[in-house]
Amino acid sequence: MMARRTLDGARIIITGASSGIGLALAKQLGKQGSRLLVTARREERLRQLSDAISKAGKVTRPITVAGDITNLEVQKQIIETAERDMGGLDILVNNAGMGSLGLFLNATPERLRRVLEVNFIAPVELTRKAIPLLRKGHNGLIVNVGSVLGHRAVPGKSEYCASKFALHGFSDSLRCELAIEGIDVLLVSPSTTSSEFFDQVMTTSPSGKSSLRNAMSPEKVARRTMRAMQRGQHELILSTGGKLLVWIDRLCPPLAHRLVTRFG
Ligand SMILES: NC(=O)c1ccc[n+]([C@@H]2O[C@H](COP(=O)([O-])OP(=O)(O)OC[C@H]3O[C@@H](n4cnc5c(N)ncnc54)[C@H](OP(=O)(O)O)[C@@H]3O)[C@@H](O)[C@H]2O)c1
Repeated sequence: MMARRTLDGARIIITGASSGIGLALAKQLGKQGSRLLVTARREERLRQLSDAISKAGKVTRPITVAGDITNLEVQKQIIETAERDMGGLDILVNNAGMGSLGLFLNATPERLRRVLEVNFIAPVELTRKAIPLLRKGHNGLIVNVGSVLGHRAVPGKSEYCASKFALHGFSDSLRCELAIEGIDVLLVSPSTTSSEFFDQVMTTSPSGKSSLRNAMSPEKVARRTMRAMQRGQHELILSTGGKLLVWIDRLCPPLAHRLVTRFG
């Protein structure tokens, strides 16, 4: 397929850029010549990333904004900084996210609220604030990093699945609304990826963290995401296992239910 969008020189915000998928994506986009604003809570990590990108390539030094993405003031600061220091915005990557693990019946209302705030409300509100800038940018694009679990839910991760289903629904709806304005929406749905995600998970499960067997590297997720951005794809489902699960669920939901209840 022909490239529809060039990333060289594109002005891009990446949330959750201090580790994992966001970090890998920032490095690869930096190499490609994109102009970046990177954000997360860990300021020192962002500074190191910005140093590494500006040393490695031809790009201007990435801008850093440190803060909690659920904070409305931080969201405002991110957008205002993009406008002031990059002169606008072409692509918003909503990647920051967190996990939850453990049976719903053992979970707390606080965990539900936190997971929904970080994984759903924050990217939606950042998107709301970014749209006026994207309208003035070139070939606008919103990339939402969801999950395979936003297509087919599994037990023990009810709040996480709900947050990613919500992001999936929002992405599909917004894509239709923005089509007339020439702004694309890409939903990226990784499977298990070897990142710090499993260290940060809010868990009540005695068995603790998930297995990283067969995990994909964040670099591979980033490469595939960049290709999907260039091609103007609407959806990217990572990994053969992930695709299989999604397609079994679409074609035969009762079978998906039986498999997930037994092995999920
Ligand atoms: N790893 C997987 O198996 C997997 C599978 C499917 C989907 N995903 C999705 O992929 C995305 C990236 O995850 P990852 O695997 O790269 O995990 P990760 O290494 O833990 O990275 C998560 C990023 O989000 C940031 N973040 C988390 N909470 C934040 C908050 N309240 N405010 C600001 N930034 C926050 C973290 O930075 P700070 O801690 O510095 O704030 C970090 O940069 C997430 O949306 C996740 O749901 C991951």
